[in-house]
Amino acid sequence: MKDIWNKLKTRADAVSDRTLLDLFGDRGRAEDFSVTLENLHFDYAKTNIDGETRADLLALAEAAGVAARRSAMFDGAPINETEGRAVLHTALRNLDGGPVPVDGQDVMPGVHETLARMRAYSDEVRGSAITDVVNIGIGGSDLGPAMAVAALAPYHDGPRCHFVSNVDGAHIADTLRGLDARTTLVIVASKTFTTIETMTNARTARAWMTDHGGDPARQFAALSTAGDKTAQFGIDPARVFGFEDWVGGRYSMWGPIGLAVMIAIGPRAFDAFLRGGQAMDRHFRSADPSENMPVLLALVGIWHNQVLGHATRAVLPYDQRLRMLPDYLQQLEMESNGKSVCMDGAGVAHHTGPVVWGAAGTNGQHAFYQLIHQGTRIVPCEFLVAANGHEPELAHHHQLLLANCLAQSEALMRGRSLDEARRRMAAKGLSGDELERQARHRVFPGNRPSTTLIYPLLDPFTLGQIIALYEHRVFVEGVILGINSFDQWGVELGKELATSLQPIVEGTEPAAGKDGSTAALVDYALKHRT
Ligand code: F6P
Repeated sequence: MKDIWNKLKTRADAVSDRTLLDLFGDRGRAEDFSVTLENLHFDYAKTNIDGETRADLLALAEAAGVAARRSAMFDGAPINETEGRAVLHTALRNLDGGPVPVDGQDVMPGVHETLARMRAYSDEVRGSAITDVVNIGIGGSDLGPAMAVAALAPYHDGPRCHFVSNVDGAHIADTLRGLDARTTLVIVASKTFTTIETMTNARTARAWMTDHGGDPARQFAALSTAGDKTAQFGIDPARVFGFEDWVGGRYSMWGPIGLAVMIAIGPRAFDAFLRGGQAMDRHFRSADPSENMPVLLALVGIWHNQVLGHATRAVLPYDQRLRMLPDYLQQLEMESNGKSVCMDGAGVAHHTGPVVWGAAGTNGQHAFYQLIHQGTRIVPCEFLVAANGHEPELAHHHQLLLANCLAQSEALMRGRSLDEARRRMAAKGLSGDELERQARHRVFPGNRPSTTLIYPLLDPFTLGQIIALYEHRVFVEGVILGINSFDQWGVELGKELATSLQPIVEGTEPAAGKDGSTAALVDYALKHRT
């Protein structure tokens, strides 16, 4: 693999002076450097990848053993080696696929049984007096369902859904204010049922419900792998929806953790979401790497991040309802691939996951796009946009949205030369030193890479495709980097220290042993406590 990495770096140097526009001298480029799966079209033509580079990137994926690792994942092998677990979120959407064995046992009967229970319970809630659902969870037990509920707003025909994640009491206080405890269902979503934020919020919600005339014995449900702990909390097993440890938290919205989504949009629309994910799985498993959307998306990421050294990646959905996608992808990508150690314990040879960030367009244009266009750092951009909105009466809004999205990727690529800026200043009547000075501020370097994912309409099926696409992209990047994308040991230390700091900030233990900075901050907090 080292040879291929070296070849890619040499190639990057060799093409560094070439402009993206030069590449479009090849008239078939848009077709050659894009791939379509059913309704979904991924365009990576506005990157500095040419046929030769793509061939090298594909060789890298092959040498890394992506195909074998992919089979191992789908076949239930324990590829999450540091936790000794299989990685089978794909089984949750394997609606009409074959058996999936884990330790010789088919997991599909259990998946179907839980799904049937979720459907029956969703129908029950949707047909009841419940007006509001509060999902209490954090990380993977929050971001996926919260993102999907926002994304699929046009399909809502169930109770209103709210999401509480932060241990900051402001979050639950602001959410519960105005809700009727007698018609609210609380879903406690936690794979482990030990997460301090979730358990603290769950206890607060239970006290609120009791104090305001609700009945926690009937109005609490749980989503967890820990049936013993949900029972200890007092949740009736009839309203506990379990899943197995082969579903990672950030990959879990396809099963019980998606219950709030199912209650919001109904079981049938939720099925369409699952089918979208399943369609992407089938494509990922069967398409040739050169036409395989997750593989290509991953290779574009590797080219930008590991080969060219661009440390961040902006996710820019021109879709207000996908406004939470950047947050969701932050966990999916950064918790999965933010690692420094290879599977075998050796240090990694390359930088691993990029910093993922972004916001919905067009809002971001009025916030951080200045840096993307004229800053000194190059930020590869990933645009997402629908051909249609859900509001036919507001089609002109959608056309403006689409025009803005396409304008941004074009502007990033094309830029504006100093000569052009000078002409513009001259047309405004400037001349001499003033023209020169003003013109320089109006230069856009251009040649900044982006990809675009375009789809007809953000419906449940399409959302399923998009989310599964990103999941598999993370997987492919992880395999190429030789890391375990499915553990998250990096979140442990902070949790442990928070536990040890709790009695100190409560004032029941001294800050002895803490560093001077931490001790002084504790001291400040205690002195200013009202
Ligand atoms: O942040 C660490 C983490 O373990 C995530 O991986 C997970 O999604 C989140 O906490 C919540 O965990 P749980 O679902 O067990 O409450």
